[in-house]
Amino acid sequence: MKKYLVTGGLGFIGKHLTNKLSQKNSVIVVDDKSNGNLKNLKKNKNIKIILAKIQKLKKINNIDGIFHFCAQSSAQKSIEDLNNSSINNIASTLKAFQIAKDNSCPIIFASSSAVYGNLKLGNDEKNKTDLLSPYALDKYYMEKLSSLYFKLFNVSSIGMRLYNVYGAGQKQDSKYSGIIPILLTNLKRKRKTLIYGGSQTRDFINVEDVVEISIMLLNYATKKKINEIYNVGTGKQISVLNLYKKIKNMTKNKNKFVIKNYKKGDPKISRGTFKKIRKKILPTNYNYIALDEGLKKLI
Ligand SMILES: NC(=O)c1ccc[n+]([C@@H]2O[C@H](COP(=O)([O-])OP(=O)(O)OC[C@H]3O[C@@H](n4cnc5c(N)ncnc54)[C@H](O)[C@@H]3O)[C@@H](O)[C@H]2O)c1
Repeated sequence: MKKYLVTGGLGFIGKHLTNKLSQKNSVIVVDDKSNGNLKNLKKNKNIKIILAKIQKLKKINNIDGIFHFCAQSSAQKSIEDLNNSSINNIASTLKAFQIAKDNSCPIIFASSSAVYGNLKLGNDEKNKTDLLSPYALDKYYMEKLSSLYFKLFNVSSIGMRLYNVYGAGQKQDSKYSGIIPILLTNLKRKRKTLIYGGSQTRDFINVEDVVEISIMLLNYATKKKINEIYNVGTGKQISVLNLYKKIKNMTKNKNKFVIKNYKKGDPKISRGTFKKIRKKILPTNYNYIALDEGLKKLI
């Protein structure tokens, strides 16, 4: 049985990953509960939970791999509370990499497509970025730190530039929630919806795909010492307004919506290239969960 560390394991993605990993492995979850909870985490004797900020921990030993997902995860909040958000994101990342070095184990970490900002195309085979928020800068820092840890200490790592992740158990009661839970809640509760912008496009990837891919990447970075970055998304885009209309049709609601100005730091386009991950990581027949199929499960 392998032993894995999941930082942010009480958060949206971390919980899905922990549930999956703990079927066959022992999992240590570290989470300070700043945005996480125990809801949806299955009871399993293979899971040990440490409620703390990871940067405050002393040592964690005998780890075979790390999935680093903890972060202040809202770009919007990082603009409103820049110092606290970045201090947390940078300190937690430094600690996660230190644990990887101490254990000579690979680390898979959650970067974000936010590093591409308003670039027309997010290309993971080129070095172009456009940082529009402190959050994006923190993610970029994490990528650069991973490269340094590889050069200096031979720590194997892969960063996932995640596109918009959605699925069961996503927070819906906060102004920083993802767009899908916000739209679903408003439409189900027959509330008026404010749409900021509307024509901005997003690539929505189901959390179950993110879990599968994270595990594939950990296996890859275990077999071979590497330091790589991959875009992780489906390659399909939809505008926020069309997403609203799609969910409205699916929920058979007739609620009104109001268009507001775009929010600062919110990219207008979210489109990436996914050749690299297809070529090197995914099985040739890998199919992502289609958006309609994923949404149906949430309605
Ligand atoms: N959900 C998305 O669409 C998306 C897209 C791109 C990148 N990401 C990244 O993926 C990761 C997971 O995203 P999520 O949607 O599950 O976010 P989330 O906010 O639900 O989960 C993050 C978890 O980390 C915990 N946390 C924060 N700081 C901590 C610290 N210092 N020590 C311990 N725990 C701490 C929070 O309590 C929370 O449970 C984040 O790094 C996020 O930036 C997410």
